[in-house]
Amino acid sequence: MTGIVDAPPAFTPAKSLLKDGDHSPAQVLATLDLADRLKAQRRAGTETPGLMGKNVALVFEKASTRTRSAFEVALRDQGGAGVYFDSTSSHMGSGESVEDTAKVLGRMFDGIAYRGFDQTDVEQLAEFSGIPVWNALTDQWHPTQALADLMTMRESAARGFGDMSVCFIGDSSDNVARSLMVSAASLGVDVRIASPAGYQPDDRTIAMSEEAAKASGGSVTVTADIDTAIDGVDFLYTDVWLSMGEKESLWEERITALRPYRIDESVIDATRNPHVKFMHCLPSFHDRATTIGRAAFEKYGLDGIEVSDHVFRSDHSIVFEQAENRLHTIKALMIESLSPRSVTGSQA
Ligand code: CP
Repeated sequence: MTGIVDAPPAFTPAKSLLKDGDHSPAQVLATLDLADRLKAQRRAGTETPGLMGKNVALVFEKASTRTRSAFEVALRDQGGAGVYFDSTSSHMGSGESVEDTAKVLGRMFDGIAYRGFDQTDVEQLAEFSGIPVWNALTDQWHPTQALADLMTMRESAARGFGDMSVCFIGDSSDNVARSLMVSAASLGVDVRIASPAGYQPDDRTIAMSEEAAKASGGSVTVTADIDTAIDGVDFLYTDVWLSMGEKESLWEERITALRPYRIDESVIDATRNPHVKFMHCLPSFHDRATTIGRAAFEKYGLDGIEVSDHVFRSDHSIVFEQAENRLHTIKALMIESLSPRSVTGSQA
């Protein structure tokens, strides 16, 4: 375990991250290794600024707690600065094209973090800005979440990715599940998906994951059979079934389909792994402390929607480690893109 050194990079450092699979497994491992070191340095108070003088545009067309915080705190920790644009504070999309906005931002900033809807928007920002662009979530992908997930899995398991398994349960057609599938498969993880028909990943994502697993020695299983999928698994992962702003008319259909995939104590027991860990990208509807959580309880009797409050708060849960690791991985990603220094000694 060493600090950051100034020797020439051993491989091409990663720049933009628009979707999972953009970075090679070696680049992902280097980012995770750097994130581990940055986490240790932050805790020891020995962090040195690697983004001095760097300015990053934070263009967020959707709400965020973790991702925005991670980018902003990472920049401050490392001597850089972020300028935050919410959905109403720039002209992009309404009064100015994505292309023109990208060309402007590219002349003033060193990098762009973008959270929005269409994947084509983040791709256009990268194409026309000429600076590194990081996807902070689109409808299709959430690659910075996957980096934190992988960091947390390795930290928790304390062994290589080729010796671990993860099962995503519930609506695996969403961006978090798709990113996890491709990223984990590319590092050799045994990736399992337990979702009902209609809530499974699209064929393209399955093909990408299978191809990545073939190269890494990992595996990918997609099934509706939760009992088979969770048997002996190391990590259980889920995400919300209902999104803020989603039509209530869709709730009944989604809840009916996904209810057998809710993670409660019986699912933990059914893994037959007393050390199984529970993961969630957050936010979560695990109790009645949110508007949606209360509504789901009143209408459907669900006290905790995708996960029970008991599991969420249990010793199995590593959700807040995941949340913290958003900071360290996003910091590592920006340093590698903007101020690349040699990274050696992968733990994979
Ligand atoms: N997991 C995640 O992306 O959280 P935020 O929406 O709070 O950024």
